[in-house]
Amino acid sequence: MERITEFTHRILEECGKADGIYVDFTMGGGNDTLFLCKLAPNGRVYSFDIQPAALDATQKLLDQNSISNCSLILDSHANADKYSIGKIDGGMFNLGYLPKSDKSITTKRPSTFAAVKIALNMLKVGAVLTVAVYPGHEEGRLEGEMLFDYLSSLDKYIFNVIYYRYINHPGSAFVFAIERFRPSPDLL
Ligand SMILES: C[S@@+](CC[C@H](N)C(=O)[O-])C[C@H]1O[C@@H](n2cnc3c(N)ncnc32)[C@H](O)[C@@H]1O
Repeated sequence: MERITEFTHRILEECGKADGIYVDFTMGGGNDTLFLCKLAPNGRVYSFDIQPAALDATQKLLDQNSISNCSLILDSHANADKYSIGKIDGGMFNLGYLPKSDKSITTKRPSTFAAVKIALNMLKVGAVLTVAVYPGHEEGRLEGEMLFDYLSSLDKYIFNVIYYRYINHPGSAFVFAIERFRPSPDLL
C-alpha cells in the first residue's frame, strides 16, 4: 500500500501538466517543491514558508537538481492570494513543523483554514489540492478535526474530497485530496 507521500505525489501526477502552475503551501525542506518543479518543468511553482531556514534548505535542494522554475516566498500561506499567482493546476499542504527543527513553529488552525480556502479558490477545473495532516501532536490533531468538518461540507457538485488514512494507526499522518470538477464563485 502507498505511504502518505507516495499517495499525494501520485494523485498530483495523475493531473500533472508539464506547463502547469503549482503551489507548495508548506515548503519545509523542499521535497514537495522539488517534486512539483519536476512535474511541471515548463511551468512554474510557487512555494511558501514562514521560516528562512526552509527557504535556505529548499534553495540548496533546487540548486543541486539544477531547477529554476520556482519562486520561493517567505510569507504565510494565508497570504497566498496577495502574489498574483492566478489559477493553479494543483497544490500541496504538508502541515506541521519542519522535522529536526523548532516544533513550536508549526502550522496553526486559523492560518491553515484561511490558506486552504484560498487554495480551493485558486484551483482550476480538473486541479487537485492535497493536504497531509499529522495528528500525532495536539495542534495537528485539532487541524485534522477542523479540516475534516470543513472539507466534508464542500459542495459535492463542485468538489470531490478523498480521505486517505490508515485507521489502525491513530497517530499517523493522513491525507485529504480535493478535486475541483466545476467552476464556482469563490468560497467566502
Ligand atoms: C511538515 S513541514 C513541510 C514539509 C515539506 N513539504 C517537505 O517536502 O519537506 C511544514 C512546514 O510548514 C511551515 N509553516 C508553518 N506555518 C506556516 C504558514 N503559516 N505558512 C507557510 N508555511 C508554514 C513550517 O515552517 C514547516 O517548514
